[in-house]
Order: sequence, then structure tokens, then C-alpha cells
Amino acid sequence: MSKLWGGRFEGDTDPFMARLNNSIGFDARLWQADILGSQAYAESLHEAGILSADERDQIVRGLDRVHAEWASDRFEIKEADEDIHTAVERRLTELIGPVAGKLHTGRSRNDQVTTDLRLYMLDVIGGFEMQLSELQLAIVDAADRHIDLIMPGYTHLQPAQPVRFSHWLMSFYWMLQRDWARLQDLRRRVDVLPLGAGALAGTPLNIDRRALAQRLGFSKVSMNSMDAVSNRDSVAEFLFWAAMVGVHLSRLSEDIILFSNPNLGFITLADAYTTGSSLMPQKKNPDAFELARGKTGRFIGHLTGVLTMLKGLPSTYNKDLQEDKEPLFDTIDNLQMLLPVITGAIATLSPNADRMAAALDDFMLATDLADWLVARGIPFRQSHHIVGEVVREAEQRGCSLRDLDPATLRLIHPAFDADALRVWDFERSVEQRSATGGTSRSAVQEQIVAARNLIGVDK
Ligand code: ARG
Repeated sequence: MSKLWGGRFEGDTDPFMARLNNSIGFDARLWQADILGSQAYAESLHEAGILSADERDQIVRGLDRVHAEWASDRFEIKEADEDIHTAVERRLTELIGPVAGKLHTGRSRNDQVTTDLRLYMLDVIGGFEMQLSELQLAIVDAADRHIDLIMPGYTHLQPAQPVRFSHWLMSFYWMLQRDWARLQDLRRRVDVLPLGAGALAGTPLNIDRRALAQRLGFSKVSMNSMDAVSNRDSVAEFLFWAAMVGVHLSRLSEDIILFSNPNLGFITLADAYTTGSSLMPQKKNPDAFELARGKTGRFIGHLTGVLTMLKGLPSTYNKDLQEDKEPLFDTIDNLQMLLPVITGAIATLSPNADRMAAALDDFMLATDLADWLVARGIPFRQSHHIVGEVVREAEQRGCSLRDLDPATLRLIHPAFDADALRVWDFERSVEQRSATGGTSRSAVQEQIVAARNLIGVDK
């Protein structure tokens, strides 16, 4: 069968050129969007008086048959099928004859491909909303279960101040909540119909684009045909979104890899989400989280690749744009694979209360001692300095802070008395921080309640 655009060409395309040019190898997954788009377009052509009711019906029913072939894995891709659009039209022609040739009237693959891609992305976004919500729910549930546990909080990866384990875990919930909101926001920009833009200059046919949009489930139509055919903002935005999710998962992973290291041992991962070593029998490796961290490199790479591909393009469609698909699809596939695994691994991890308790040391309460002095009217800058001297004293003696008795403390500053010893209590420390966003039980519970209310809500 001759090419869609074969009229002005003499002889065959060089086979290596064809291999370079063809996208069917990776855009076949758009088959459903392509067929739905064409069926809705056939209706518009009928409304515009281009197709009779009978021709429209032949085309729509023929496309139903093509749909059925794809759905049951019976669709045969032929050598000359350049991309999904040509493959579907070629098959339609085989099934219903020359009337199929009327379907492409006023349409270009330029407005067709971006319509397909948008339909496909809207579908994919719905799936990610669910996967993201499930991960958020696993985090909230685990935070709820383990609210009693206190562990070291770190800055610079050095022991800093005690925090509730739940507070640490919930910090990732809020990152994912921003990702959820970003996904809602980008969906609004995907939700725009480009079909009717033609190759670049719009359609000469009397097509009701708003009705067409409605049939396909879009809420808006593009307002400029030249922009419409080359607009890949939503691909780039989606790739940024995925990269950002990846960065969040990667940071969560880094913590979990550290915390599950037996030298710290704060958490134990379920066997189902870890792997062994072929050489060292004792090993239990946190591969799920290493892969989250590793795949994030690929997500960032795909974003960079697409932005770079876009940056120098002249107006409207250029074949460079065909390069948007593989990074997009690869990102979708990998993130879809990753999210449920991280969800399962979070839902099944077990924290080790004794290991967390053992890692808490009094130096993490030095700030609380400074706060105690502040309550006695000493300016914070000064109390910070005084407690610095207390820390140095304990270090010189090789003892813990709580081993310094009030008499010793008084040698450093006369404001100290026995009441200061109340500070050496990790529970007291986290409970002191009860303002919204802090580590106290009530503050953590407050965020858990707020978080549960936000899951799945467009905010
Ligand atoms: N396979 C092409 C793509 O992915 C479809 C659009 C082709 N348009 C064209 N003018 N050759 O971008």
C-alpha cells in the first residue's frame, strides 16, 4: 500500500531512513486514543456536511473493528505503517474501502498526534492520582500506628533533636501532597483540545470544535492553531512533575536505606520488598528504595531531554517533536511500576522502638536546656553560649549531660538548679513543641487528621 503522503514522491524511502522516521515501535500504545479521536472527528465531519450519515456510520463501525483487533492483540502492524495514525487508517481502508479516505479531511497528523497524546495523558493522570493517594494513605496509617515512637532527628545527617517517628514519616506525606496538587494543576493544561488546528493554519471546514471537545471529554479548545500543533508544555510539565515525585521518593529512600542499615536499625523492611546477595548469606538489601533513588536520575534526564529538544524549534510542527514520546512513556511506565512498590514497602516496614531509644542521647536535648535558661529570663544568645560550656564540660569528663549534677552546672552559671534536670527527658522534649507543625503528640495528630481529609481532594 502506498504512503499517506506518497503522491509527489518517486521511488521508495531508503530503508534506513524509514527505520529512523517510523514511530510505530513506540507510539502504538496510543491506539485507543487515536481511534476514539477519529470516531469523534467523523461525527464532526458529518455535522460539517463532509460525511453523509451512512459514510460516518461505516467509518465509526470500521473503527470499532480496528479497536477490537487492537484490544484482542490481533492487530497486525505492517512494514509500511509509519506511526499509529497511518496504521489505523491503513487498516480502516482495508476493512471499509475508499470511504476511509474521507476521514482525514481537514485533519493533519500534527493536530491528531497531540490530541491522542492529551487523551492518553488524561487517562494516565487519573491512574497516578490513585497511586499517589494510596502511598499517602500508607504513610498516614503508619504514622498513626507508631505515634509513640521517638527517634533522633538529623540536620547535616548529625544527631540534632528528638522527633516522633510519625513526624518524620509525615514530612513525606506533605511533599506528596504538593505533588498531588501539581498534578491537578497540570491536568487543567492537558485538558485542551488541539484537534481542528490542521497542519498549522486551522481548518477550512465548518467544524464545531467545542462540540468535538465535549465528545472527547475535553473542557477547553486551543485558541491558536500554530501554538496548538507544537505545544508540548504539558509533556514537559508532566516530566517535571514525575521528576519532582522522584526526588521526593528518592529522599525518602535515602532515609529508609540509612534507617534500615543494621548499624542504625531504626526500621526493618519486610522480606517481600528486599533482596538477598548471591554471595553474602546474611545480606538483606533495600533494593526497592535504591531503585526509587536510581530511577529518579532517569526521570530528571527525560525532563532535561525534552526541554532541550523543544528549546530551539521554529514555529509549529517539526519532526523533532516525535522525540517527546519515548521519554514520556518511559517515565510513565517506570513511575507506575515504582509507586505501588514503595507503598507496599512503607505499609509493611516495622520500626524498632529499642534501637530508636538507644540512639537518643542527651546532647540532642542541649537546645532544651538552653530553652530552660530562656524561661528563667536569660536571653537565648547567652543561654546558647552557656549550654555550649555545659556540653564541653560533659565532653571533657566523658559523661552524658544528665550526669552533671546541679552543683557542677551552677559552676558554669548560677541560674541552674535541680529543676534543670527535668530537661533530660525525650518525651518532654517532643511534647514541648506543640504548636501546629511541631513534634508533640497533639501536633502530629493534628497533621494526621488534616492529611486524611486532604487525600484525594483537589486542593
Ligand atoms: N509520528 C509523528 C509524531 O509523533 C506524528 C506526526 C507526524 N506529522 C508529520 N507532519 N509528519 O510526531
